[in-house]
Amino acid sequence: MSPQAPKVNVRYMKLADLPQVEALDSVCFRTPWPEGSFRYELRPDSASICLVAELEEAEAEPQIIGVVVVWLIAEAAEIATLAVTPEQRGKGIARQLLISALRLALQAGARKSILEVRISNTPALHLYYGLGFQAVGLRPGYYEDTHEDALLLTLDRLDSHVLKALEKT
Ligand SMILES: CC(C)(COP(=O)(O)OP(=O)(O)OC[C@H]1O[C@@H](n2cnc3c(N)ncnc32)[C@H](O)[C@@H]1OP(=O)(O)O)[C@@H](O)C(=O)NCCC(=O)NCCS
Repeated sequence: MSPQAPKVNVRYMKLADLPQVEALDSVCFRTPWPEGSFRYELRPDSASICLVAELEEAEAEPQIIGVVVVWLIAEAAEIATLAVTPEQRGKGIARQLLISALRLALQAGARKSILEVRISNTPALHLYYGLGFQAVGLRPGYYEDTHEDALLLTLDRLDSHVLKALEKT
């Protein structure tokens, strides 16, 4: 992680965050989530974990610089989306968001984590492999926009020991 890591607060996403969250999603992905998707994740009966990373700077309004959404499906925590604004990358913010979300998922009963990632997404692959995820499958032509393959990654053992070890690294 970069030594000049900014002061970042990771907290639950709320409805008032949606304009910033959707703007961030548009900047970070070739195919952003359809309109209304983040709002849907925040519905009162949602089982999703939605977090934002907020940059706290003196004399400025807090700014949302990272987002993660995790779907809880039986014992699996599926990473549905994860993004950090381009200006703030390489400072450990995605890692912080992901570890926070996995800790909440563990508390909610998840025992493993899964995700799909574009095979060309080197930064994301480094991040996930660094957290102990392993590639377990390939989904050919999975992405509709470019027909790129997806790698299926899993973190098979999600428990408090694993998370504690990750928080220390
Ligand atoms: C992938 C993404 C979320 C990473 O965010 P980030 O805040 O820059 O990641 P972090 O700083 O927490 O990096 C954690 C680890 O990832 C790796 N990493 C991050 N960016 C990297 C890069 N450009 N090249 C190589 N490795 C990289 C490093 O191993 C880093 O570990 P380190 O702390 O030991 O250096 C960010 O690049 C992004 O938003 N990309 C666009 C959206 C996207 O692709 N999301 C993932 C969808 S599956």
